[in-house]
Amino acid sequence: MEITLKAARRFVEEIPAPLVVVGVWGGELSEAGQKLDQKHRKALSGMMQALHFKGEFGESLLVPLSSQRSQKEGPEFALLFGLGKKRGVSLETVRKAGAKLVQTVAKLGFKEAASETFLAEKFGKEAASYALAEGALLGGYSWAKYKTSNPSGKRSEKLRLWLARAAGAAVARAEVVAQAVHYARDLVNEPPNVLTPVELARRASEMAQALGLEVEVWDEQQIQEAGMGAYYGVAQGSANPPRFIQLTYKPQTASRRTVALVGKGLTFDTGGYSLKPSESQITMKGDMAGAAAVLGAMQAIARLQPPVEVRAYIAAAENMISGAAYRVSDVLTSLSGKTIEVLNTDAEGRLTLADAITYADRQGADAIVELSTLTGACVVALGEKVAGLFTNEPRWGREVQEAAERAGEKVWPLPLEEEYLEALKSDTADLKNTHGRSRSAGAITAALFLAEFTDKPLVHLDIAGPAYSEKSHDLGPAGGTGFGVRTLVELLGH
Ligand code: BES
Ligand code: ZN
Ligand code: ZN
Repeated sequence: MEITLKAARRFVEEIPAPLVVVGVWGGELSEAGQKLDQKHRKALSGMMQALHFKGEFGESLLVPLSSQRSQKEGPEFALLFGLGKKRGVSLETVRKAGAKLVQTVAKLGFKEAASETFLAEKFGKEAASYALAEGALLGGYSWAKYKTSNPSGKRSEKLRLWLARAAGAAVARAEVVAQAVHYARDLVNEPPNVLTPVELARRASEMAQALGLEVEVWDEQQIQEAGMGAYYGVAQGSANPPRFIQLTYKPQTASRRTVALVGKGLTFDTGGYSLKPSESQITMKGDMAGAAAVLGAMQAIARLQPPVEVRAYIAAAENMISGAAYRVSDVLTSLSGKTIEVLNTDAEGRLTLADAITYADRQGADAIVELSTLTGACVVALGEKVAGLFTNEPRWGREVQEAAERAGEKVWPLPLEEEYLEALKSDTADLKNTHGRSRSAGAITAALFLAEFTDKPLVHLDIAGPAYSEKSHDLGPAGGTGFGVRTLVELLGH
């Protein structure tokens, strides 16, 4: 759905739109709703009573205003939109309401509507405007690139939504962030035969050039010559060659610090010779969701122009089987010089990331945030909604966690327990890439492996759960969620 948001100074009932949306919160009409109700001789409250409408979250009630309209002016319909109970309400309620609202309004067939900025009196105009706008834009996302007929049938594909008494700057920022999330979702949803490492690099370059970011892409030969043996080991089995992608945002003004972002960029993960069963491969086009989040964040950062230098690194590759593919027992020499014995070719992400992290560290960064769909174990621990956060530097960890909280993305700390490092010692090489047959602490040992490649403050976000949703969710449809973009923009984009 194509949504155009307009921040209006006016009160909701003064906006010339056919539909006016007012909130019902704790079973009562909002202030704007009460005003409208009086103007229309209790049409709203009358209908609420008659139909026992309590305004559970997301419930809505369409009330025709036509009969009471004076001189055929003003809105034809009011939509009473349920915001649920007074207790436990948060900005996340407003964000979700935005998403649900655009879906409801579109389903009803309206192309234009005016909504009050829900709960602005409680959370402040800025924050409420931002959350409502972001939710509306995210909730309007759809992915139909490869549908040859319109999947939504007669449902309206365009919606102009006025937000009454909204803060224009907050709405504009929400537009930048939502566009970046959509960009990341599109990349994740793109099929792996289209989005190869080469294509990912091409899209990253295109975006970077359009927005004035520096960009450098290395081909397979440059990757090998640079000494990225761990990364190259993973990539060597595919007919689609790897690409190492670097993007740099330099602020116009003096920079406060330099932060490196690293994203896992496996455009498809079959598992290699440690082959995944076919059901487990179904979501593996999303194994580049970390890269997508980093690229989405770079897009927003380029637009928001914060006073921080941000460098992005993506070691894009495909994990495939062939006569040239790496095997179990191979020993790879990483860029750091550390040797790694491969015990499982499906633990490929950490091999590509090891070299990307070493490189990011050597290029100079005050701190690193790395995002990856790294382990199934993290999904077992935290489920599909929460990412695992690991850090070697508690202050940096807290900073990222707090940014995620403000952004409305769920992350939770897990320990980088040094005692488990023992499990990664190899008899043959310096390290092995998995802890062998044991299934315990899989997310932690993966994080420990990554932490071996830098002494800089590092945050590793294991987004294997929340990066991809197999069903539609509160803020969008099934598929890529764009998880991580909002956290990174909240962390760096001010
Ligand atoms: N890409 C997967 C992790 C994954 C699993 C992401 C489920 C999203 C959903 C990763 O490369 C992988 O296969 N990890 C292995 C590691 C194991 C071999 C130590 C895993 O989690 O099973
Ligand atoms: Zn894997
Ligand atoms: Zn993987």
